[in-house]
Amino acid sequence: MSKYKIIIVPDPVLKQQAQPVARVDDAIRQQMDNMLETMYDAPGIGLAANQVSLLNRVLVMDLSRRNRDDEDEGEQTPEQNIGPICMANPEIVWESEEISVMEEGCLSIPQQYAEVKRPAIVRVKYLDYDGKQAELEAEGLLSHCVQHEIDHLNGVLFVDYLSSLKRSMILRKVEKLKKQEVL
Ligand code: NI
Repeated sequence: MSKYKIIIVPDPVLKQQAQPVARVDDAIRQQMDNMLETMYDAPGIGLAANQVSLLNRVLVMDLSRRNRDDEDEGEQTPEQNIGPICMANPEIVWESEEISVMEEGCLSIPQQYAEVKRPAIVRVKYLDYDGKQAELEAEGLLSHCVQHEIDHLNGVLFVDYLSSLKRSMILRKVEKLKKQEVL
């Protein structure tokens, strides 16, 4: 396995539409493995292909190793312990009318967090690591995570849901961090 470089905003690749994969073959599995390693190293709980300059519809998630100090409210629902999930060609086939609001962050927008409103529950169809058709019903953090990662494949970032004022504030902060070479 090897690691990819994570692309930070602003970068055109984060605004582009990723293309479906024809099938999940060894090359895609290798990409999934590398993306997981990149994500664990960051560390993060989700990563989409655009974020490592690949424009195919592949994403990885792992909520089991989550450890963000400032967000631990002591509650761990079972779904948050879900281990590595690899998806190719994910597609939301159903979403609840109920809405959930949760603070999100992004490895491409480091150290910035904001509340994002999304459908509370979604059902996602995808090809798994073995190339088999699979379906996942996600709620809570997993739901936010999978919707956030699918957004990436469509060139959408979580800051796109915020007011333009809030968005430009966040992007300016990242620029400043870049200049200070913290990132
Ligand atoms: Ni992200």
